[in-house]
Amino acid sequence: MEKSCGSSCGSKKQTCGSADAAVAQQNVAIDQSLGRIRHKILVMSGKGGVGKSTVSVNVAIGLAKKGYKVGLMDVDLHGPDIVRMLNMHGRMEGELTKDGKMPPMRYNENLKVMSLESMMENRDEPIIWRGPLKNQAIRQFIADVAWGDLDYLVIDAPPGTGDEPMTVAHTIKDAKALVVTTPQQVALADVRKSINFCKHVKMAILGLVENMSGFICPHCNKTVEIFKTGGGEQLAREFGLKFLGRIPVDPKVVTAGDDGTPYLSSGAASQTTAAFEAMLARVEEELPAKGSIPLATVSSGCACGPGGCDPQKCNC
Ligand SMILES: Nc1ncnc2c1ncn2[C@@H]1O[C@H](COP(=O)(O)OP(=O)(O)O)[C@@H](O)[C@H]1O
Ligand SMILES: [Mg+2]
Ligand SMILES: [Zn+2]
Repeated sequence: MEKSCGSSCGSKKQTCGSADAAVAQQNVAIDQSLGRIRHKILVMSGKGGVGKSTVSVNVAIGLAKKGYKVGLMDVDLHGPDIVRMLNMHGRMEGELTKDGKMPPMRYNENLKVMSLESMMENRDEPIIWRGPLKNQAIRQFIADVAWGDLDYLVIDAPPGTGDEPMTVAHTIKDAKALVVTTPQQVALADVRKSINFCKHVKMAILGLVENMSGFICPHCNKTVEIFKTGGGEQLAREFGLKFLGRIPVDPKVVTAGDDGTPYLSSGAASQTTAAFEAMLARVEEELPAKGSIPLATVSSGCACGPGGCDPQKCNC
């Protein structure tokens, strides 16, 4: 016999315990988590190896250094790099919070991190997942993790326009894409695909970053234009997008990534630091979080999500 779901299920129209009811309940949890996060940034690109994870990590660390509350979520489920880049080798464990959520890992006081890798028994085990499972994992990353109040959630995506960015676009309606490209023509052609993807899923684009733009010689500190630079800026102009800046190729960025000491964590002054900082300033300008009104942490606890219950639509 069907019974009513009561008030906690999120939908009285479903049968308690049914798959639909579970989805409705998860939707409530997702809305509650997202309602406490001011800005969501999806770092994406059409191509692998252009520096998405590097940009994600440094944007997250840079914003956290400025005093913002930041979350970094790795949704590159097949090739999670974030914990390696941050040298966070612990496993995710610890007590659930009183509302039954999993505490994320903490890089420092201001930066919370979540990666599938930190939940795995064996990091070298390949992950063989298809679309629906990936979709579910990402939904759980949002619904079941105690992100708390955040100014920014930075989401590191795998290359391309597959299940992961698609799930993010569908689940986080107000996420904005930060598209990373390199100056070469092939990468620029790939970026066009990312831009078209964003149009298709109606995700706003925060802007474009041109990574590996010019090489800083470690001997004389001069910039050498190994690839034609400026393509990213031109592309941004062509598509009417904001250009967020260019980051040079710097051997120290590679070492930083490999050693798990992210570039911006060192605090050393250099042209590359200046480039990252200029990019951060643009992000801050586009997505201001300072002095804004407090987050709407009051959640209705029903399917209406944060901001309170809408009695017109809800009969909870
Ligand atoms: N600006 C840069 N200068 C030098 N090396 C970089 C730079 N950006 C990224 N890299 C290196 O390039 C490789 C790929 O970067 P990664 O961030 O993993 O790319 P993606 O996430 O797009 O696959 C890494 O070894 C990284 O350290
Ligand atoms: Mg990556
Ligand atoms: Zn030189």
